Amino acid sequence: MIELNDAEFSKMYPYIRSHYGINLEKKKYLIESKLWIELARSKSGSYAEYWKKLQNDETGAMERRMMDLLTTNYTFFCREEQHFDFIRRIIVPALPSNRIRPLRIFSAGCATGQECYTLAMELLDLRRAGKLQIPFYILGTDLSETAIAAAQRGFYNSADYARLPQAWQSAYCEEFHDGQFKVRELLHSFVSFKRQNLLEMPPIAPTYDIIFCRNVLIYFEDGERENLIKKLSGALQKGGYLMIGHTESLITIPNHLKYIQPAVYQKPEVRT
Ligand SMILES: C[S@@+](CC[C@H](N)C(=O)[O-])C[C@H]1O[C@@H](n2cnc3c(N)ncnc32)[C@H](O)[C@@H]1O
Repeated sequence: MIELNDAEFSKMYPYIRSHYGINLEKKKYLIESKLWIELARSKSGSYAEYWKKLQNDETGAMERRMMDLLTTNYTFFCREEQHFDFIRRIIVPALPSNRIRPLRIFSAGCATGQECYTLAMELLDLRRAGKLQIPFYILGTDLSETAIAAAQRGFYNSADYARLPQAWQSAYCEEFHDGQFKVRELLHSFVSFKRQNLLEMPPIAPTYDIIFCRNVLIYFEDGERENLIKKLSGALQKGGYLMIGHTESLITIPNHLKYIQPAVYQKPEVRT
């Protein structure tokens, strides 16, 4: 394996931190272990050569591939189910009966899509039970191009599939080959995905009823966390909810959201 020397490392990690919010200052070994394959692919004899090629690559493809390799896209269906329970028990029953505006949900840092499809299955169940009358739309975004491509395909292996309740397995998935499963076509009409760097996300008008940004803040520094929370709060409708990961907290991040329960915050109707 080609060694990443200190001079090369000191160019790479600050660039990744300032462009993507991900702090790899203490992860030199991770960079080496993930990027050696890219060195071979780009026929670079050193990290300095690789970095120069990447900086000169006007298509941006080398940089996107690097970030694919350096991001952790770990996720699974029904993860932190308290949030889905909160939607089922609190959010949907409280929707005004005369509301016609669709319910809009944003999953920021959705990885390979299981979070978005879990939401869709939950809301479809509520619709079938007559408890949700309005249309709903879910947008999932992630920095990783390969994660977003996997989310768009909606193909999952048997271990992923096993995490779904049996009723959802038969209602919303089908087996297609070799123990691989795919979410049914129906789900694709409720969920869309796009690649997006949250650090470069432009301000969004208050559009969303619910925003999931779970297990993403952990990778960021305080400054970037604050900027992101400000943008996500701006994108929430008044009364809308922000869900973060249960190991994350907004305690050290200035914000105007109201704490509701662990990992659930609400944008007040009137700014406090
Ligand atoms: C651990 S996964 C969390 C997935 C899902 N939200 C969950 O909780 O299961 C974190 C995701 O955040 C994404 N991510 C990290 N930095 C990002 C950035 N600057 N912009 C967009 N996504 C980012 C990673 O690519 C990764 O897929």
